[in-house]
Amino acid sequence: AGNRTFTMIKPDAVAAGHIGAILAQINEAGFRIVAMKLTKLSQEKAGEFYEVHKERPFYGELVDFMSSGPIVAAILEKDNAVADFRTLIGATNPANAEPGTIRARFAKSMGENAVHGSDSDENAAIEGAFHFAGTEQF
Ligand code: CMP
Repeated sequence: AGNRTFTMIKPDAVAAGHIGAILAQINEAGFRIVAMKLTKLSQEKAGEFYEVHKERPFYGELVDFMSSGPIVAAILEKDNAVADFRTLIGATNPANAEPGTIRARFAKSMGENAVHGSDSDENAAIEGAFHFAGTEQF
């Protein structure tokens, strides 16, 4: 049991062959995978997922990138899941990410930064429900 967070392994990390290494690091850090799929976001779906950022200058680039290739979407469970997962992935800009974090190991840039992690319990629930029906969550 525990709290839940939502993650995506982004198109850069999937294309580079890092799905297995990233999932291993997530499991070794004590997260349980309760839902998971390899999928591809349409431009429309990516735009909807990142709607909260639509006034930002990088929104168009973000939507193009996130719909550019397959992603892995997953819901993760652990005590203190949201905060602990953000610690595990490191800073948004990999140049500022702590050594050993997922972004320090695998991210290329601020935009192509290997993984997403929800920023609050409320957004974790919204983002998880965006990708998974209740019957797909274990
Ligand atoms: P993510 O945690 O998925 O949520 C929003 C994303 O926007 C973030 O990861 C980054 O990949 C991206 N992002 C944030 N700031 C910038 C920026 N200045 N330029 C390009 N992309 C950005």
